[in-house]
Amino acid sequence: TADEGYRLWLKYDRITDAARMDAYQRRIEAFRIWGSSPTLAVAETELKRGLEGLLGRAVSAGNSTGIDSNMVIVGTLADLPQRYTHQIPRYAFSHLGPEGYTIREVTVGGRSSIAIIANEDIGILYGVFHFLRLLQMHVELDGIDVSDAPKVQWRMLNHWDNLNGTVERGYAGLSIWDWETLPQTIQQRYVDYARANASVGINGVALNNVNASPEILREEYLSKVAALAAVFRPYGIRVFLSVNFASPKVLGGLDTADPSDERVRAWWQAKTEAIYRLIPDFGGFLVKANSEGQPGPQDYGRTHAEGANMLARALDAHGGTLIWRAFVYEAKGSDRVMDAYDEFARFDGQFLPNVFVQTKNGPLDFQPREPFAPLFGAMPNTPQMLEFQITQEYLGFSTHLVYLATLYKEVLESDTYVGGKGATVAKIIDGSQQGQRMTGVAGVANIGNVGNWTYHPFGQANWYAYGRLAWDHALTATEIAQEWIRMTLTTDEVAVNTITEMMVSSYEHLVNYQTPLGLNVLSSVGHHYGPQPWRRAGFHRADTAGIGFDRTGTGSNAVVQYSSVLQDSFGNVANCPDKFLLWFHRLPWDYEMASGRTLWEELCFRYHDGVAGVRQLQEAWKTVRHAVCPETFQRVNRLLAVQEDEAVWWRDACLWYFATVAQKDVPPQYEKPR
Ligand code: GCU
Repeated sequence: TADEGYRLWLKYDRITDAARMDAYQRRIEAFRIWGSSPTLAVAETELKRGLEGLLGRAVSAGNSTGIDSNMVIVGTLADLPQRYTHQIPRYAFSHLGPEGYTIREVTVGGRSSIAIIANEDIGILYGVFHFLRLLQMHVELDGIDVSDAPKVQWRMLNHWDNLNGTVERGYAGLSIWDWETLPQTIQQRYVDYARANASVGINGVALNNVNASPEILREEYLSKVAALAAVFRPYGIRVFLSVNFASPKVLGGLDTADPSDERVRAWWQAKTEAIYRLIPDFGGFLVKANSEGQPGPQDYGRTHAEGANMLARALDAHGGTLIWRAFVYEAKGSDRVMDAYDEFARFDGQFLPNVFVQTKNGPLDFQPREPFAPLFGAMPNTPQMLEFQITQEYLGFSTHLVYLATLYKEVLESDTYVGGKGATVAKIIDGSQQGQRMTGVAGVANIGNVGNWTYHPFGQANWYAYGRLAWDHALTATEIAQEWIRMTLTTDEVAVNTITEMMVSSYEHLVNYQTPLGLNVLSSVGHHYGPQPWRRAGFHRADTAGIGFDRTGTGSNAVVQYSSVLQDSFGNVANCPDKFLLWFHRLPWDYEMASGRTLWEELCFRYHDGVAGVRQLQEAWKTVRHAVCPETFQRVNRLLAVQEDEAVWWRDACLWYFATVAQKDVPPQYEKPR
């Protein structure tokens, strides 16, 4: 079809399973929404469109005199007539908060309907998307009783989009924001973007690159930003901007951006006021300061806390939030993974209450696999926003099929052991462990202006899965994959299972053919695509004696940033999980692994296994041909061929480089390099 992939997981194509269709058609004759607001209006449009698409016939909006049977009844607790809500205990609603909802069968005078009820209008919209998802997945509706609410307050997408249309680490075309034609031209794509985000519960978006151009704060741009904010508002999405710390100099003509200078404070205050005049529900600022050459408070001898608090004060007057990134590594130390912790942990409790410290999932930089960042747990009095990367900077760009929910879950479920067992990163982030009241997750977006949003059809799954996990980190990677497949690709049972298996195994394959056993940053310098281990000795430290980065007491001792339980496991070579072995330890090539192989043999095994994994993906994909749309089938098929080629490239480049350094041979049972 011409719009291959454009509709994402919101396709709403007519249900082809006859029994399902029959059951749904009998159950859903009409719908009715009580109340009125812009959010309820988009909920109504979505519901109508979804029902009509899925049921393949017109579905009328019932009127008030209509019979209460086989309806979908929608409204807030306040707006709905008592007859639908009086059977439901009130405490059921207190758990739902402002964004939660319940979907359940209600019976009035012996007649049964399905009700979607929430406390607030935005909960209604989320409930409508959930209901449509159930239909798309062919879930049985009789006796339905579902309640859901997000575990985390801010569920954000961060775009690294530049004002000239390019996207930093973006591999799906140019930016989706067409700054030139805004604010007059509102593309349908902006609306569909908002729908997709709302369907998974994303409620905040930072529009521009953290390497921020000061220009974004010019009036001309702010009116464009306001136009986008107006599109997103009914969908419960608030706009944030990345700002450049030197803006008062560049735009304001001041000779300093020192946060303790009165003129600088006044400039930010006035600018913030101007933004709120245009966008009353503006979310706030996202700041990358004193990191990779960006300006910041340290340029004036001030701390990160002083810089952040200055901006937070300006925002606080309007209810805004400041997100300050912890991604810094300019410190003097010899091991860059220690820098964020060293720089930020000491400021715990010193940030104003509306400040988030935004921390990447790992202490290095979005590598295929890293242990969780030790800052999680180390700042009990500071809200931390966990930052994931959805765009696959180090995971095959938009060319490789890599399902990232596996990575996200691994991080979220990592136990920090701070204050005892079970203190997972997820519990730190949702505030349940340490009691932070402001909570959030961010994902660096992988979308652009190509027709199908993400270039690789399976890139859509990463956007989807990120959103679902931001909403509910307890979901499993498998169930999210199944939802996405059923909504996006096929409802054929066998195909769903095959594709689920492909997705769930894909992450480990990539880790194996790129950076197994805790290796990291073996990629090309600069663009980060393809292997270049010969220029990455600072990360892998390979020589004739061995390989790996010693982060124990005999090396950088980065391991002390973790709790004592983890120091014993990560820091002790006998206890360290294989997946982090060379992250924490430097070992001789003949070191004997638990598998019985030597370290060198294990590396050879992993790299070959990664390639074998990609070949399994290719074989599996061929078996689902009949069940998915032909264009998508071909596109994925072609991309898998490239992935196979590049997995071999990674394997051969890395193994033959390490073989040279180690003066070893690749054992004869393995495939010869190409
Ligand atoms: C990585 C990435 C940069 C990005 C940076 C960041 O280093 O390569 O392009 O700017 O992360 O997160 O700020």
